[in-house]
Amino acid sequence: MTDKNRIIIFDTTMRDGEQSPGASMSLEEKLQISRVFDELGVDVIEAGFPIASPGDFEAVTEISKTLKRSIPAGLARATKKDIDACHESLKHAKNFRIHTFISTSPLHMKHKLNKSPEEVLGAIKESVTYARKFTDNVEWSCEDGTRTDMDYMCKTVELAIECGAKTINIPDTVGYTVPSEFKKIIETLINKVPNIDKAILSTHCHNDLGLAVANSLAGVMAGARQIECTVNGIGERAGNAALEEVVMAMRTRHDLMPYTTNINTKLLSKASKVVSNATGFPVQFNKAVVGKNAFAHESGIHQDGMLKNRNTYEIMTPESVGVKKTSLVMGKHSGRHAFRDKLSDMGYVDVTDDIINTAFGKFKILADKKKHIYDEDIAALVDDSLVTEDNVIKLKSLKVYAGTGEPQKAEMTLEVFGEVKSASDTGDGPVDAIFKCIKKLYAHDVKLLLYN
Ligand code: KIV
Ligand code: ZN
Repeated sequence: MTDKNRIIIFDTTMRDGEQSPGASMSLEEKLQISRVFDELGVDVIEAGFPIASPGDFEAVTEISKTLKRSIPAGLARATKKDIDACHESLKHAKNFRIHTFISTSPLHMKHKLNKSPEEVLGAIKESVTYARKFTDNVEWSCEDGTRTDMDYMCKTVELAIECGAKTINIPDTVGYTVPSEFKKIIETLINKVPNIDKAILSTHCHNDLGLAVANSLAGVMAGARQIECTVNGIGERAGNAALEEVVMAMRTRHDLMPYTTNINTKLLSKASKVVSNATGFPVQFNKAVVGKNAFAHESGIHQDGMLKNRNTYEIMTPESVGVKKTSLVMGKHSGRHAFRDKLSDMGYVDVTDDIINTAFGKFKILADKKKHIYDEDIAALVDDSLVTEDNVIKLKSLKVYAGTGEPQKAEMTLEVFGEVKSASDTGDGPVDAIFKCIKKLYAHDVKLLLYN
C-alpha cells in the first residue's frame, strides 16, 4: 500500500458483531453478508473466532473459500490450539490474516488471566511467532489497551512487531476512552516504539459511551491506518464503531480528514439491510447514514430549504450511500411549499391555488391527529376539495345487525349523484354485508383484497 492516507477497513461484523447478545447468524446468512462486504470493498473481513464453536469454524472456512477481493481473518487467543484452528479454517484463501490477542491491562492480567506482565510478554512472543509460521499477515491486539499502562504497552507492541506482527491493533475494549486520550495513545506509540514503522496501527473502539466513531477517527488523525468496525455498529454490549459512519465521516469531512478507503459507499445501505435482516436487529430510525430517517425532512422550514437548495440541510446525498432519494415526509410540521411539491409529484399538476389552500388546511388538521400521512390520505384531501355537491356519493344512513344465531345484515341508504337509494343484504359478517349493499346501490368492479 503506497498511499499514506489510505485507511484499511477491517470489518468484524461477523465476529465482534455476532457477540451482540441475540445476533447470531446462520452459515447461509454469513455467506450472504461476506458476498456483500466483498463487493462493498471491505479490505479485511474477520469472519469469526474459529476455536469458539464448530459453527464459527465452518463459517470461517466457507467464507475464506469464497472471497474474491477481501482478505479473510480469524481471531485467536494467544494459544497454539486457537492459532491452529484459525489457520485450518483460513488456509483455503490465497491470502489470509491471523488475528491473535491477549489482555495487557493490570486489571485483566491479574483478574482474568492470572498472569504477571512478564508472563504476558512471554505469551505474546510465543503466539505471534507461532502465527507467523502460517502467514506473514499477522495482527496482534492488546485487549483492554486503553486501560493499559503506556510504558508497558510500548514494550508489548515493540515485542509483537519484533516477532513479526504486521498490524498492531489498540482496542478500547470497554469503550472507556475519549478522543483526546486515544489520540495521545496512538501518538505515544508512534513516538516511542522504535520499530513502529514496520507495522500498521489499528483502532478497535467500542461504543459504551457513544464515542466509538469519534475515537476511531481521532486514532486515524494521530496516525492509525486501519479501523476495525461493524456494519450498523453492532457488537459486544453497546457495539463497535459503525463502518458506515467512519467511512462517510472521512468522505464528507475530507477537508479535515483527507483519508480514503476502498469502500463503494453506494452499497452502504444494502450492507446495512443485509446485516439487519441476518441478525434480526432493526436499524434505529435516526441511525446516522443508514437509518430510515437519515435523509428524511419533516419540518416546513427544512423542507422549504431543501426544495430551494438541498445543501441547506443535507451534508451528503442519499444517493452517495445507496438511498434512492431524499424524502420530504408529510407531517404536522410540513409547510405549503412541500405540500405543493408533493401534489405535483403525485400528478396533481393543474390544481388551482384555491384547491391547494383548502386541501392544505385539511391536511394540517389531519396531520395533528395522525402519525403517518400516506399519499392516499393526501389524494383523498385533494379529491375531496375537487368535488361539487352533485358529483358525489353520500352515505345517508346505515344500520348493521351482528350477533349470534342471526345472519349478519346491513341496511343502507346512499345518495348516488343526487338520487337517494336504499338496499339491504346479508353477508359473512357485517362488513361483508355493507360491501354487498354498496354494490347493489352503485355497481362497480372493486374487489376487497385485504381487510386488516
Ligand atoms: O474489544 C476487544 O478487545 C476485541 C479484541 C479481541 C480485539 O474485540
Ligand atoms: Zn471488540
